[in-house]
Amino acid sequence: MERLDKFLCSQSNLTRSEAGRAIRSGRVTVDGAVCRQAAQKINPDTQTVAVDGKAVGYAEFVYWMLNKPAGILCVSRDPKAPTVVDLLPPDARRKGLFPAGRLDKDTHGMVLITDDGDFAHRILSPRHHIPKTYHARLDKPMPPDTPQRFAAGITLGDGEECKPAQVRLLEEGEAPLVEIVLVEGKYHQIKRMFAAVGCHVDWLKRVKMGGLSLDESLAEGECRLLTSAEKDRVSS
Ligand code: URA
Repeated sequence: MERLDKFLCSQSNLTRSEAGRAIRSGRVTVDGAVCRQAAQKINPDTQTVAVDGKAVGYAEFVYWMLNKPAGILCVSRDPKAPTVVDLLPPDARRKGLFPAGRLDKDTHGMVLITDDGDFAHRILSPRHHIPKTYHARLDKPMPPDTPQRFAAGITLGDGEECKPAQVRLLEEGEAPLVEIVLVEGKYHQIKRMFAAVGCHVDWLKRVKMGGLSLDESLAEGECRLLTSAEKDRVSS
């Protein structure tokens, strides 16, 4: 059982005081009956709460997949610049949402946004070896020994050592397209790994996390909720 105002503010974009005002002004119903008591105890598993006639869904945690465009910060909040959380639909916003794993501002592709800290820890901790797959466009062909150097765990320019990573060529040419699979997420890692072999990453996109691929039907800037099977696929 949970207080009505607390439930509303955890499941919607209302603050606690906005939830209280909505309740007192008669905009909130519990199982169809107006309830004006913010302290009313409700059972979210069995009762339906609605604001202005629209049911408020109950989920302990949510998991969004976003196709991040370049130019958006991969953080929860920023006073000056738009963030990945700002791209969620307004009625999807709720407290505690954050991106599970950072992408650089200029990186595109798959970001998972959740309020489940344990899930984020599981998929991000290098101890769990959840692979993250990226596509990168390079400024020149990579040296032929790059796959071996990455597989052995390359040392970055500042001496930092990387865990073994895979790289394979997807498209040959003067500006080749490559696929990289990492099990960790150091700052600017792929850009620094390629810098260590003399290449510059001109374009970077994350296409897969664990066993879950980016839904390519999402245009850049679009997002959708994961099904529970998809969520499980991330950590499988
Ligand atoms: N590696 C990078 O260099 N940038 C990213 O955004 C992700 C991985």
